[in-house]
Amino acid sequence: MRKQIENVETQLVSLRRRASDIQLARLKERLDEATDREQRLRSIFSQQREEVIKQNEASINYKIIQQEVDTNKTLLASLLQRSRENDVILNDTPNNVLVSERATTPGSPAGPERSRTILIAFLTSLVGACGLALFLGWLDDSIHFAEDLEDSLGIPVLAAIPAAPGGLTSRLSVRKLLPGHVRRPRNERYDMALFERPEMAESYIQMRTHLMLSQAGGPPKKILVASGGEREGKTVTALNLARGLMDTNKKVLLIDADLRCPRIDAIKDLPNKNGLTSLLAADTLQDELIDAAIQVDSSTGLHILTAGGHSVNPTNLLGSDQMVWLLARLSRRYDHIVIDSPPALYFADSTIISTIVDSVIVVVRDGLTSTESLFKVQRLFQSVGARIVGIVINAVPLHKHIYSRYRYYYHPDEQFPDENALQPLNLG
Ligand SMILES: Nc1ncnc2c1ncn2[C@@H]1O[C@H](COP(=O)(O)OP(=O)(O)OP(=O)(O)O)[C@@H](O)[C@H]1O
Ligand SMILES: [Mg+2]
Repeated sequence: MRKQIENVETQLVSLRRRASDIQLARLKERLDEATDREQRLRSIFSQQREEVIKQNEASINYKIIQQEVDTNKTLLASLLQRSRENDVILNDTPNNVLVSERATTPGSPAGPERSRTILIAFLTSLVGACGLALFLGWLDDSIHFAEDLEDSLGIPVLAAIPAAPGGLTSRLSVRKLLPGHVRRPRNERYDMALFERPEMAESYIQMRTHLMLSQAGGPPKKILVASGGEREGKTVTALNLARGLMDTNKKVLLIDADLRCPRIDAIKDLPNKNGLTSLLAADTLQDELIDAAIQVDSSTGLHILTAGGHSVNPTNLLGSDQMVWLLARLSRRYDHIVIDSPPALYFADSTIISTIVDSVIVVVRDGLTSTESLFKVQRLFQSVGARIVGIVINAVPLHKHIYSRYRYYYHPDEQFPDENALQPLNLG
């Protein structure tokens, strides 16, 4: 019985296992089928969805096109309506257009009148240029005419010195680009003997001659060379005046009283340690001291008293009694003393010196010095009782200069201009 039971139990176990395997296999088959179906359904679904989206887009486009068609239909209908109305109106009204004159083809091309436009433009620009020139002339207060100065100031013009080569004009000159052109050192531009143009030397001789004849009772002894502003040519005038006076066999001393910006020592290449300031600062003015301070220019033999060392208060030094004594002592030794000075409108130095000299020469620079500043300088010197002996117009462009006639004598092969075209001292 027990054996039978065991057999039955083993049979039962194997039957159960077989039944469960069969069941499992069936379930797996069904699962695979279901999965396949799901895949198919998914792909069908996505296809359907894409189609639906396309149909939606197409229906939207369709609606838009439909609307456009409707609008165009309405527009066409209204246009047709209007055209019909126009036809009706045109049929009712008679045509009143008449050909009065047949258009003819012109023989030449038509265009703007060029010659008339050019003429108008020329006249307009001429008037504008004249106006501008008059306006600039009105603005330009600088000195140009010697006669104007003599009339308005009542002071004679001693000379008009032409502009030396080396100024702006020659800086722009093409001559210096030519081979063989010698560039002149800066200090040469101060010495009339080295100026290339004979007209310059002639002008300085004229200045000297007019100065010698400027006062009764002999030529002035102590001469101050002054000007209102800077760079107007005080130093160059003082130097060449001293040279010119020396040529008349007189004993001449040149004093550099421009203690603000002394230049004569540099121009003449002289030491400047011992000069005017050292004499003015000395306790006693001994002859040996004066002798030691005065130097002789080796090239010209001119006696020069340079400015000397730096001074803290030049105005006080120049206004001191020592300066009066020094000039008195020097005037016993020399026939002429020429004094260079700083700008009169900036410093009181030259005004102070003007009170202890015989004559003052005022230098103005053509095209630079204004009439206004010259009037100021005149008032300044007159207020202290100084005697302005004359005016020197410096750096006059050569084409304006009276001495351009000297060119004829130095260059006789050149055509001399019409005699009437040249007026004496007409710098215009
Ligand atoms: N007639 C001239 N032609 C051309 N250049 C000139 C003439 N006179 C002066 N100059 C130039 O103008 C410059 C100024 O001249 P200068 O030093 O004599 O003037 P200044 O009045 O003494 O000036 P500052 O007030 O600085 O002492 C110099 O370089 C000089 O060479
Ligand atoms: Mg100077």
